[in-house]
Amino acid sequence: MEQTKLVELFNSLTLDEKIGQLVQLSGNFFESNDVIPTGPVSKVGIDENKVYQSGSILNTSGAKQLKDIQDRYLEKSDKKIPMLFMADIINGFKTVFPISLGLGCSFDPEMVKKTAQIAAKEAAVSGIHVTFSPMVDLVRDARWGRVMESNGEDVYLNCLYAKAMVEGYQGDNDPSSSIASCVKHFAAYGAPVAGREYNTVELSERTLRDQYLPSYKAAVDAGCKLVMTSFNTINGIPVTGNKEILRDLLRDEWEFNGVVISDHSAIKELIPHGVVEDSKAAAKLAIEAGCDIDMMTSTYSNNLKELVESGQLDKKFIDEACMRVLELKNDLGLFENPYRGADEEAEKKYIMCDEFRQFARETVSKTCVLLKNNSILPLNKNQKLLVVGPYANNNNLSGSWSINVDPEKVITVYDGLKKQGNHVSHTNGSPLLDEDSKLDTFGYGKTVKNDNEDAQTLLEEAMNQAQDADVIIVTLGEHPHQSGEGGARGDITLPKVQIELLKSLRTLNKPIVSLIFSGRPLALKEVDENSDAILQCWFPGTEGGDGIADIIFGKVNPSARLSMSFPYSVGQCPISYNEFSTGRPAKTSTHSKRFTSRYTDMPNDPYYCFGYGLSYSNFTYSNIQLSDNTLTLNNKITARVTVTNDSEIEGTETVQLYIRDLVGSVVRPVKELKGIQKVLLKPHESKEVSFDISEDMLRFIRRDMKFDSEDGQFVAFIGHDSSTENQQQFVLIK
Ligand code: BGC
Repeated sequence: MEQTKLVELFNSLTLDEKIGQLVQLSGNFFESNDVIPTGPVSKVGIDENKVYQSGSILNTSGAKQLKDIQDRYLEKSDKKIPMLFMADIINGFKTVFPISLGLGCSFDPEMVKKTAQIAAKEAAVSGIHVTFSPMVDLVRDARWGRVMESNGEDVYLNCLYAKAMVEGYQGDNDPSSSIASCVKHFAAYGAPVAGREYNTVELSERTLRDQYLPSYKAAVDAGCKLVMTSFNTINGIPVTGNKEILRDLLRDEWEFNGVVISDHSAIKELIPHGVVEDSKAAAKLAIEAGCDIDMMTSTYSNNLKELVESGQLDKKFIDEACMRVLELKNDLGLFENPYRGADEEAEKKYIMCDEFRQFARETVSKTCVLLKNNSILPLNKNQKLLVVGPYANNNNLSGSWSINVDPEKVITVYDGLKKQGNHVSHTNGSPLLDEDSKLDTFGYGKTVKNDNEDAQTLLEEAMNQAQDADVIIVTLGEHPHQSGEGGARGDITLPKVQIELLKSLRTLNKPIVSLIFSGRPLALKEVDENSDAILQCWFPGTEGGDGIADIIFGKVNPSARLSMSFPYSVGQCPISYNEFSTGRPAKTSTHSKRFTSRYTDMPNDPYYCFGYGLSYSNFTYSNIQLSDNTLTLNNKITARVTVTNDSEIEGTETVQLYIRDLVGSVVRPVKELKGIQKVLLKPHESKEVSFDISEDMLRFIRRDMKFDSEDGQFVAFIGHDSSTENQQQFVLIK
């Protein structure tokens, strides 16, 4: 629709109709012809006749269903403004990829972009217009359940992924293969105090700007069409009512022109936050702060009109928010075709088609991180294998966000292994959860309990079957609902019953390969002590079993690297490689050990550090050099290193460049990732890998709060992971 027509339409709207555009409800409000007053309507407290004025729907899919809803809606709507369909498509739609934390471990933004393209295609033909993704919250605390939705702890990497995903979803706005992207949760939702869900965030402005904001900015710069507010506070004010964040920063400083949507119920939650007294004040605070759409509450719907009519709210706030929603609808072409990409035939053709599944399988083998290998992997197809443990033949492999997955289509570990191995058997070995554990699932009053199986019987059966095996593959992990939203944990070890299974099997003195399924880094010391090899599989999605088997039998040589540190124990949380320098660094301080920055009962270093991950090849680094020791504004320097594959197996090494600013006007991180490169090396081949270093890579929020670099000494490190000490020094002179 031409802009003038859109303005005409906008001018024809009543105040009620404008407010309606700012309200988002879930699909079950619209699933039958008549609104059910005792169902969702009464729960949300929305006036029944306002339901058909609301502008968007959350989490409903399926071409037929969405076309029907759109038809019914348009029939009842006076001004015939199509409804927007938004949904959480996080790590794939029906073809489910590994969880985002796993995707982060690929260190491969192009691959991640393609996962977003596939998800967009499947979602678009199913009638969806917008995805609440990417989630780009920087995370450092493995206690927080939602680390599984993030790409990890690194600023640079998260920016690459944010851009890749927005571009992947939105493409060139083709209705049949793209959807609009909503970056979330703006801002800094990944830093809740003590890792507890929905808790306060307490960050200095410098850390916020230097570390937590860049990934959202990267998504905005890549053109994402929506931004979702986060539940947390920043500087004491919940973001959903925080004008400094939503208007001054997002709109004025970053020039974001798209739609801002609240997170689920976040406007209403301004009341329990204690920054407003009632829902009228909540509506006023949020709309004035710059939050356009109210997700799933009646706060806007029931209050904005009265606020305007009583003169307490300037109507311009409603006008500008409504216009942004209309512009988004127009941009997506809904006025020309309200169904947009929804197409039942295309659904049949594309959803979970062979090509998408094959690609998903490749993503599994590129995201499983090999944490340990005492020369036992890859296995030989003729070995007798027992696959045991609660994930041995479990199709719940897609993580807590896979709301559209068809479990029947998931390839289990056993399915995958038996396709490639000649002698594979399986048994459950243990329940997933300890007997005394109670786990709330996503609402609905259900609690997951121990699978009702007798742990002792399962263990005995496993011990019997293991007698016969050459190698035991033990599948261990968390329940998928132990991570994800509301999945914070104060203990990040495996259930006792699973450790008991592992330790019992260990007494048989047979080689043990442990496969770990989790939505967070777990404390794996006991697993390490009782395994010959460990593969961190995350929740690998629909093709999990095939992708894992590809690694186990060596069809694929693992190349993934940890995008989040694995702590030694929960006591180290939050932890990340890019911590700030202290006055008494444990390794180099001149003080006696006691009086340095360290724990008395465990190491400072994580169990497995950021960037770590093994391969079946063995890579060595030599000859790190800089083209010049002086960097200026106009003159880049090139850092080079020689990487050698010192093995008989071809493999891909992810070479990592880190930089340290030795002296700054404010305390600087001990290392920061600034470049990655993948290099494929044949057996015994060497290649030189180089990175350009330019002044802009050294900028940070200085003492004067300007984002700029400072003259002085820097160290460039190039190596296998964040613990690398291969280094050369240079100086910046501006
Ligand atoms: C989550 C968001 C999600 C929204 C809609 C909220 O509870 O925090 O990430 O997009 O629900 O489902």
